Amino acid sequence: MQTIEVKTKSRPSTVYCGKGAAEKARDILRGKDVFVVTDANVFRLYEKWAGDMFGDAPICVVPAGERHKNRGTLFAILDKMLDARLNRGSVLVALGGGVVGDMAGLAASLYMRGIHAVQVPTTLLAQVDSSVGGKTAIDHRGVKNVIGAFYQPEYVLCDPMFLHTLPPRELRCGLGEIVKTGALDADILDKLEKNSDRLFDLSFMEDVTADCVRFKAGVVEKDECERNGLRKCLNMGHTTGHALELFYGRRSHGEYVLIGMYFESIIAERKGVCSRVYAEQLRALIQKVIGRIPKFRNIGEAARVALFDKKNEGKNEVSLILPKTRGGFAEAKLSIGDYVGMIEEIGGGVL
Ligand code: NAD
Ligand code: GLY
Repeated sequence: MQTIEVKTKSRPSTVYCGKGAAEKARDILRGKDVFVVTDANVFRLYEKWAGDMFGDAPICVVPAGERHKNRGTLFAILDKMLDARLNRGSVLVALGGGVVGDMAGLAASLYMRGIHAVQVPTTLLAQVDSSVGGKTAIDHRGVKNVIGAFYQPEYVLCDPMFLHTLPPRELRCGLGEIVKTGALDADILDKLEKNSDRLFDLSFMEDVTADCVRFKAGVVEKDECERNGLRKCLNMGHTTGHALELFYGRRSHGEYVLIGMYFESIIAERKGVCSRVYAEQLRALIQKVIGRIPKFRNIGEAARVALFDKKNEGKNEVSLILPKTRGGFAEAKLSIGDYVGMIEEIGGGVL
């Protein structure tokens, strides 16, 4: 097991990564007033484990899925916290994927202006990305993560035991964020390419999770609240990916991020931001994870959705984080017309 410190200014976090990480909860929570939030799927699979680990602590079970990451569920959690008479010394444990982590993290930040939070991520995506770095949020009026806060957990327990029950689609989703991290860090990219035949092995995922967490910790330490531009790099592939996810919604978040990266690598190549050789290397890796890249009907309309992404500050341009060199990136601002035209050309067609 590895220990990774995230030295953020607001509150440092300690991340335990590897076999046995979840067991750390016993020491961390001993003698504390604990409140657990999880979703219905995770509860069904880990009810016994949670009973052993958290004893009599109240467990708030929310419905699973992104469509429940909303104010109704957030306020249901806050109501249960109030019913449980939590106080400033209480600890909220978010046991689940990124949806539970984002929403319960936000509840922890709001209740009494902030109580202790511990993230126990149970999906690969949550282990390599969302549980670390303190972004918490709910979706509102069709806008993803529009209500939220930066609120660092005190501990994050990334235990590979949870990955054994994850369906392949969710593993692919986490691999999307892993490949994204590889595009931002040359050592991780080398490792992914060298192990491209075992990307789906749980032992490989366990190994690369700590690398991804360490990379993200470094970014978050330098730009905790996405103020100086560095943290934006974590959004590589996300502009197009979010647009596709919002518009089509059939695949997982990570798969759309990968498709977004695939399309945006072609834009990077055409705009002269990165070489054809490097763009092709990235695309080969992406295809190792999701296979054939689909064509999308009405993709121009979907791309216009990116206009309303909160990351695009100006109304007439789209901000893209493009691959530049191995592990390097560049932010490009494209006019909406230019962006939509390119996306239609690259990804348009019949589903
Ligand atoms: P999720 O939380 O919806 O989990 C995916 C599915 O897997 C759900 O049905 C869940 O019930 C199930 N599940 C969870 N753990 C399981 C397990 N161990 N075994 C079997 N099934 C399990 O989705 P996700 O992909 O984990 O997270 C996506 C969310 O994360 C999105 O809302 C996204 O916006 C957010 N996100 C946040 C950040 C951040 O920095 N805060 C970064 C990336 C993504
Ligand atoms: N996943 C994007 C971020 O944490 O900033």
